[in-house]
Amino acid sequence: MLTVIIPTYNEQRNVAGLAGRIVRALADTDYEILFVDDSTDNTPQVLTRLCRINRRIRFIHRPGRRGLASAVATGFAAAGGDVLAVMDADLQHPPEMLPVLLRRIQEGSDLVIASRFVPGGSNGGLSLLRRLVSNAARLIGQLALKDLRRTSDPMSGFFMFKKEVIAGVALAPLGWKILAEIMVRGHFQHLAEVPYTFRSRREERSKMNLREQVNYLRHILRLVADSPEDLRFWKFCLVGTSGVVVNMVFFFLFTRLLSLGAIPAALGAAVLAMSGNFLFNDHFTWNHRKEGNPWERALKFYLCCGLGVLINVAVLAALHGLLRLPGAAANAAGILAATIWNYYANNRWTWAV
Ligand code: GDD
Ligand code: MN
Repeated sequence: MLTVIIPTYNEQRNVAGLAGRIVRALADTDYEILFVDDSTDNTPQVLTRLCRINRRIRFIHRPGRRGLASAVATGFAAAGGDVLAVMDADLQHPPEMLPVLLRRIQEGSDLVIASRFVPGGSNGGLSLLRRLVSNAARLIGQLALKDLRRTSDPMSGFFMFKKEVIAGVALAPLGWKILAEIMVRGHFQHLAEVPYTFRSRREERSKMNLREQVNYLRHILRLVADSPEDLRFWKFCLVGTSGVVVNMVFFFLFTRLLSLGAIPAALGAAVLAMSGNFLFNDHFTWNHRKEGNPWERALKFYLCCGLGVLINVAVLAALHGLLRLPGAAANAAGILAATIWNYYANNRWTWAV
């Protein structure tokens, strides 16, 4: 059975129309509709009436507004289906997509996301400002968390999955983005995306606000803290940044106090910074993987980072020399490429498990 979970907060003018369209769309399916409602308007009364007319419709009313993600998690716990769908109540998510999502599940996907950002999809329903904020949020999320890079629309509020994806998983919903929670903590292999058009809201208003945007950042931080692989990359970046400081301090000391020339000073500072980085990474970033001979790890680390310097210079030369990009921008791109190389190479080789 499919359970369609719909969080509602003051949607009295939307729920009846929505329920009607879901019932029509799922006519040939075994399903239930589960509203999880925190409303202070007449939504509960409308829902009570709907439940009386149609036995497939249920609703849970929670006193006090407790948040979108937590409402959805409440829905997961109460759902009777072995397939769960989540969608909004305001008709911005077209109910006619439900059978399309369900077919992908039946074809073997564990998680199907309705996406605004695959060919055929559109994000027309958001104002320009909201679209900007939404894109920034998506970028931050996908930068911070590897799992969110598996989809084009990790911020989607419209998706379907097999219940086993969250079996035994302790969800810690905070704010709005329950899909991010599922993608980081859940267990799934096959992921599918289906394009859809996010229409603009006709009735009532969006419940998004600044507080939820702050909650989003808190949520991402918490997910990173709970995700060892992502955390390791950020630790590596922190060590790298400290290395830049060490490098600059020694360069200053060597040129000013020891009156060395710029090239020997830079070489000396780089070797010291790299050694500091090695020790830090060995005791902090990859502390749990310190196996075998430390000198061998150090040698591997120098080799990887040495190649990283070459990559940095090659990218700089290509972008600045060939494509005529400003030097600083070209160097920034080079540093980024080298950082990614250094991380993966050291992760796979120097501190391989
Ligand atoms: N129970 C409950 N409690 N429901 C809530 C709460 C709450 O505290 N806050 C919001 N909701 C419900 C709304 O009633 C609506 O059904 C749904 O959550 C989404 O709220 P909207 O106000 O319509 O959000 P939006 O349109 O700005 O953004 C939505 O769509 C985007 C695209 O899929 C959200 O789902 C976003 O997370 C999503 O990115
Ligand atoms: Mn909406």
